[in-house]
Order: sequence, then structure tokens, then C-alpha cells
Amino acid sequence: MPSLFSAYPLGGLTLPNRAVMAPMSRVRAAAGGLATPAMATYYAQRATAGLIVSEGVQPSLVGQSNPGTPGLHTDEQVASWRQVTDAVHVNGGRIFAQIMHGGRVSHQDTTGFQPVGPSAVPGEGSVFTLSGPQPMPVPRALETDEVPQHARAYADAGRRAVDAGFDGVELHGANGYLISQFLSSNANLRDDRYGGSVTGRIRFAVEAAAATVEAVGAARTGIRLSPGGGFWGVVEKDAAELNIALLEELARLDLAYVHLEATTDEDVLLRLRRTWPGALIVNPTVPNGPTQTGLTEADHWLNQGADLISFGRGFLANPDLVERLRTGLPVARVEQATFYQGGDAGYITYPTYQHVA
Ligand SMILES: Cc1cc2nc3c(=O)[nH]c(=O)nc-3n(C[C@H](O)[C@H](O)[C@H](O)COP(=O)(O)O)c2cc1C
Repeated sequence: MPSLFSAYPLGGLTLPNRAVMAPMSRVRAAAGGLATPAMATYYAQRATAGLIVSEGVQPSLVGQSNPGTPGLHTDEQVASWRQVTDAVHVNGGRIFAQIMHGGRVSHQDTTGFQPVGPSAVPGEGSVFTLSGPQPMPVPRALETDEVPQHARAYADAGRRAVDAGFDGVELHGANGYLISQFLSSNANLRDDRYGGSVTGRIRFAVEAAAATVEAVGAARTGIRLSPGGGFWGVVEKDAAELNIALLEELARLDLAYVHLEATTDEDVLLRLRRTWPGALIVNPTVPNGPTQTGLTEADHWLNQGADLISFGRGFLANPDLVERLRTGLPVARVEQATFYQGGDAGYITYPTYQHVA
């Protein structure tokens, strides 16, 4: 079994260890979806991760989910991200941008547009807006000839990400956002080529990935999936068949990696491991599992064939998570109240381990 602390070649990069910082929205971007100096500090503090995957970044205004999230659809946004990618690289790190189109998990008060989705089916729960949580709006179902432009938005954002100095991009195909809505059997009720059968429902994800590969190259393109996950009310009634079919198509594109959340039974995840021939990142957090995962869960999945392991909250609260896990130092717990509150507290204030004599 490989050690979490051994090097791994990913795309054109050599990762010094196999611990990936999972994407986490922190809603601290400046007006206009711009990255800030505090964001540069936050990511640079965590540069000892084998790979950092950024918070979800919207590829278009209509694709924005929450207020305060950054974008990659204007030149100003590209320029603002350079301080982040430079800071990470100066500290010896590597960073991919997660491209996240919210689809129906969005609100007109945030973007100025009625949200779009595969079908006019609202998500479950409430969506955050500047005036507080509001019921999820009914999205506008995309016309068949509009769908390709939303798939291409991931590629355009990918091109901008590379211009901004990112080492690559991860398409957010997980957690109930646009790609996941197309994969879903209850958010996607379409009867055109983007819906219905498994082949129809995976088409949007495959087109988004293919367009991104064409724009920035396969070595710079990864994708995140949450097989069978029920975020914002999405259901994948045939998770195993659907995700196997998707990975078979994605394998033809030779993506840099697939990033799976442990949102379905382990035997399905192992079938997905066997289907996907390339690099596999596993986020080992299971619903109702330990609140912060560590070396035990990492070793379990490395033993089951994962190549890389991602940690979200572990990296949020421990900029030096890799060193703490490697040397057995205590790991700090997250403070949930500061996840999305803005400002520096609970963002760039988590210290590296301090020895007290
Ligand atoms: C504050 C916060 C923000 C998150 N934002 C994102 C996101 O933007 N994109 C994404 O794919 N997952 C997001 N997640 C999910 C994490 O990437 C991860 O899958 C989840 O936290 C479970 O892993 P963990 O137990 O290691 O934290 C977020 C999680 C947290 C705690």
C-alpha cells in the first residue's frame, strides 16, 4: 500500500504527497467575484498539500450559487487570481481551480437571472442570498440548443484558470450542482438527448469534460463526482450503472483524475475504482462518519486502490495538516461558525502547530 506521504505523478506535476485539499467555498471574494489578498494568504498557508483544489468558482454569472463566491468569467477576475496562484507557487504548492456552475441552486437576487437547470424542478432546501436564506426558486429548463454553451462555459473558465496561473481545473460534477443535476433522475426530466437514459443523462458531463480537455489539455482536467449522493434533493436512482457509464466515457478523454466522494456503498465505489483506469482521489467522509477524517480513513482507501486522499475540514483548521498527520501531532478541529462568515477570523487565523515547552 502506498503511503499518504509518498510522491505521486499527476498530469504533468509531481505531487510530493498524496494528501489533497478538498474544494471548500469560503465566500470571501470581493465584489465582482474577485480573489483577494486574504485568499492568497489562505491558500499559500496550505501549500504543503500534495494538491490544493480551490473553492468552487463560477464560470458565468448565471452559474453563481452563493453571494461572495469568486468567478473566472471576466478579465478582472483572472488578474485577481494571479496573486493566489503566485502565492501558492512561491510556497512550493500546486493548485487546481474547481469550476462550479450552480444550476438550479442559485437565486435571482444573487445573479440577476432566473437560475437554469435541466428541468423546471426546484432543488430542496433554501439557498443563501444577501438577504438571508430563501426558498429554492424554480429554474428555467435549458432549451436543447442552449445546453452546449453551458458545457463550454466550463472550458472557457478552464482557459481563464490556466491564464490566471492555475495548474489545472476540476469540474464540479458533485453535490447537486449543474452537472450533478443533469446526472440525476429526478432533477433531469428531459426527453431530448440530454436526458432520459443513462447515455442521455451523462452527456452534459461528458461534453463539459471534452470541451475542457480541448481547451486546456487532459493533463490539466479533473472531475469531482458524488455517486448516489442526495445533495439539494438530487436522486441518482441507478448510481452504479450511471457512474460506471460516465467513467467509461471519461476514460476515453484520459482526464488527469477523478475525485470521488464516498457517498455510496463501498462496493459501488470499488467497482468505480476498477472502471476508472487513471488517477483516483477519494474523499473518505461518509454520511454520519467521523466529523474529520485522518490517517485511518486515508490508509483504508489507499489500501482499496485510491491514489490520493482529499481532506476538507482537516485542511481548513490545519494549514500544516500533512506535517501533523505525518508526525502524529494533534489535529485541530474546525469552528463551523466561521465557515462562511467572511473576514479573516477562522480563515487565515488557524495556526500551524505550536510547540509549548
Ligand atoms: C465550508 C465548506 C465548503 C465546501 N465547499 C465545497 C465546494 O465549493 N465544492 C465542493 O466540491 N465541495 C465543497 N465542500 C465539501 C468538501 O469538499 C468535502 O467533500 C466535505 O467537507 C467532506 O470532507 P471532509 O470531511 O474532509 O471535510 C465544502 C465543505 C465545507 C466544510
